[in-house]
Amino acid sequence: MSQSTSKARIRKAVFPVAGLGTRFLPATKAVPKEMLTVVDRPVIQHVVDEARAAGIEHFIFVTGRNKGAIEDHFDIQYELDRTLRDRNKIKELQLLEIDLPGAGQTSFTRQQSPLGLGHAVWCAREIVGNEPFALLLPDMLHHGDAPCLKGMIDSFDRHQGNIVAVYEVPDNETHQYGIVGIEQKGGDLGITQMVEKPAKGTAPSNLAISGRYILKPEIFDILATQERGSGGEIQLTDAMITLAKSQEFYAHLFDGDIYDTGMKIGFLTANLALGLAHPELAAPLRAAIKRMGL
Ligand code: G1P
Repeated sequence: MSQSTSKARIRKAVFPVAGLGTRFLPATKAVPKEMLTVVDRPVIQHVVDEARAAGIEHFIFVTGRNKGAIEDHFDIQYELDRTLRDRNKIKELQLLEIDLPGAGQTSFTRQQSPLGLGHAVWCAREIVGNEPFALLLPDMLHHGDAPCLKGMIDSFDRHQGNIVAVYEVPDNETHQYGIVGIEQKGGDLGITQMVEKPAKGTAPSNLAISGRYILKPEIFDILATQERGSGGEIQLTDAMITLAKSQEFYAHLFDGDIYDTGMKIGFLTANLALGLAHPELAAPLRAAIKRMGL
């Protein structure tokens, strides 16, 4: 079968992790914001786990200066392994092994200047190559019974179009996100409109882009010449608007909870919610909350 008639498969995922984390200072002065822990693992591990659960085979990190800890986290730490083995801490060893992508399954490239999300994605073009790919914004933790990216890949297998995950936000918050307009399209939701951070009172809906995408490689050609948009940055949403003129875009309404761990309140809420969902920690955490008289 030729390339054009065979069904494409999503094998690669891009994680933009170059952001400075200014909303979370001083915690992020020396530690990448993606390495802050939610319950017992770094934020970035939660998001990589979501991608692995969806069948992703190659993990592409767009990093920046002072983000070396992320690269180290996805490598074997020989001294640590040796010490755990010597002390017969087999459970801990196994935990480290489970989390680790296989040899050759990670790539790291750098976004040299903070020019925006669109520019960060464009920095991954050579590693992604000419195939559709997943994009996951690590700040946004998606927590639910059905993992978000898995659901998106299932729907991509049906229609082979671009997909943007969305969730409902309060009307007074729409100016903080990319917002989409939708319509029913067969059994799926088609996107009719996209706008990055609309001015208050002008949003086409309250469906916000949640930070999970499946995109076709033609997005890279558009990003190459994309002008700066909202906030003076090269915006991915603006490039998607151009791509939507020639390709289909679908919305995936995520059925679960989303926490913006790049913000203090989102980070704290994520720790509480995932702690209360943790098999070993739920009961003692509930007891601790009760002792606080809440
Ligand atoms: C980015 C996207 C925006 C999306 C948001 C989700 O914005 O540009 O469309 O709604 O992530 O977190 P940022 O948060 O980088 O300003």
